[in-house]
Amino acid sequence: MADITESPEWSALVEHHAALAGRHLRELFADDPARADRMTVTAGDLHLDYSKHRATAETLRLLVALAERAGLRRRIDAMFSGEHINVSEDRAVLHTALRLPPGEALTVDGQDVAGDVHAVLDAMADFAARVRAGEWTGFTGKRITTVVNIGIGGSDLGPAMAYEALADHADAGITCRFVSNIDPADIVGKLAGLDPERTLFVVSSKTFGTLETLTNAKVARQWLVERLGDDKAVSRHFVAVSTNADRVAEFGIDTANMFAFWDWVGGRYSLDGAIGLSLMIAIGGEAFREMLAGFREIDEHFRTAPFEANMPVLMGLLGVWYTDFFGAQTRAVLPYSQRLARFPAYLQQLTMESNGKSVRADGAPVVAQTGAIFWGEPGTNGQHAFYQLLHQGTRLVPADFIGFAEPFEDRAGMHDLLTANMLAQTSALAFGRTAEEVAADGTPAALVPHKVMPGNRPTSTILVPKLTPKTLGSLVALYEHIVFVEGTIWGIDSFDQWGVELGKVMAMDLAPALTSPEPPATAPDPSTAALVRRYRELRG
Ligand code: F6P
Repeated sequence: MADITESPEWSALVEHHAALAGRHLRELFADDPARADRMTVTAGDLHLDYSKHRATAETLRLLVALAERAGLRRRIDAMFSGEHINVSEDRAVLHTALRLPPGEALTVDGQDVAGDVHAVLDAMADFAARVRAGEWTGFTGKRITTVVNIGIGGSDLGPAMAYEALADHADAGITCRFVSNIDPADIVGKLAGLDPERTLFVVSSKTFGTLETLTNAKVARQWLVERLGDDKAVSRHFVAVSTNADRVAEFGIDTANMFAFWDWVGGRYSLDGAIGLSLMIAIGGEAFREMLAGFREIDEHFRTAPFEANMPVLMGLLGVWYTDFFGAQTRAVLPYSQRLARFPAYLQQLTMESNGKSVRADGAPVVAQTGAIFWGEPGTNGQHAFYQLLHQGTRLVPADFIGFAEPFEDRAGMHDLLTANMLAQTSALAFGRTAEEVAADGTPAALVPHKVMPGNRPTSTILVPKLTPKTLGSLVALYEHIVFVEGTIWGIDSFDQWGVELGKVMAMDLAPALTSPEPPATAPDPSTAALVRRYRELRG
């Protein structure tokens, strides 16, 4: 595999950056007022304005050339057709198959992928409909009113984020709670106030071997059996979502109540398959399928649009532009929707577990900087917390602003105020306020430097008609493909996550030392040994 940083396309961007870095967005707009109209792209329901980026038509031409050099077109085709592009695990990467339209065939490695996907979706929809209609009841015959999803990482963040985003679509009187942390505070808090007769647990784990999930599931099972007084209650109150039927059975969940997925779906890419079961129970099969249609629309756009007019490609390339040429460390995602409060956390796993890599797919060290640190909070809360640094700090923080034209419901014109804030922020970040402008307001000279707003802070604005199942699916698919574009440029395997394994193994080795009356026999290092001793003293 060739080192992308050695390519002429990379060198051209280095040169171009040197020429452009000193230019202000004010100048770029003055030189080319039409950029506001030109630097936009629409994909399905998503409209992107990328004119407030420190980029010109030439930048985009050079970035697209870099994508071509990295073989992006071939890689896209390879992913969609099921080639084993997850090389370190020798797996296909087929989350896009989870939203294949009915009737479209896809066979990979001898498996009827499309058929299997639709069989599971149909089984989920059937089960969800029965729970929603009160046909699937608890052990004592009562209707289910709460679904508790037990899972972590990709088996939690997706459905938890989407449930909150689509809470207004939960129309069957069923609410969801999400338990993930091994901190007992999580499950204790989430079980508080629940009626065991009306509670359904969805144990979600791709591997069904994850410590947090299995431990929480055992606690939940004990809670249920103690209250209902019969082991047999488990089969009415526990269902599983997993790729591992043997472990599901071993745990004591009837595999007839298991919803499958496959090793070619990465955990962080699994919301739109069986991992979305709790969400589907809350919002219904039809709304879930609308969400899939939203994913699909962006898949089609990504697969077919020319790179110059391809939203995930452009956003991914701009990500590379700031990470590798401007040295930006982070990327803020700022949804102007309270409903999307968990979207940044969801994106953290999607982007950072995927692209937080320092070796290339072929095992050679990467030379470029890879995955940015993703973070964010919904507007306007962030404005009153960390935006100060975005506006006047010394760091460059590219940011994605996401807004919606129509609220689910409005009060006293609040939604327009919300949107006005979003637009004002992107404008202030881009154009700032010069010393002359500040002084012209009559600001005392000593205060002028404090009030200068440097501007030239790049942002994308994604404007969406309304937050619906469909548009949420489109937003998620957009970021999935942005991750793919960036990972392709860097030549990394965006679909493994070996870096999380060591800590898990060490925790299991350390756990006995925390409770044993013996002095810790082994500890990985002197600092950790001292902390174990201190912890044990404090525990008494
Ligand atoms: O530890 C990381 C991870 O493997 C994630 O990739 C995954 O989403 C999460 O753990 C949960 O894994 P599982 O679904 O197998 O329980």
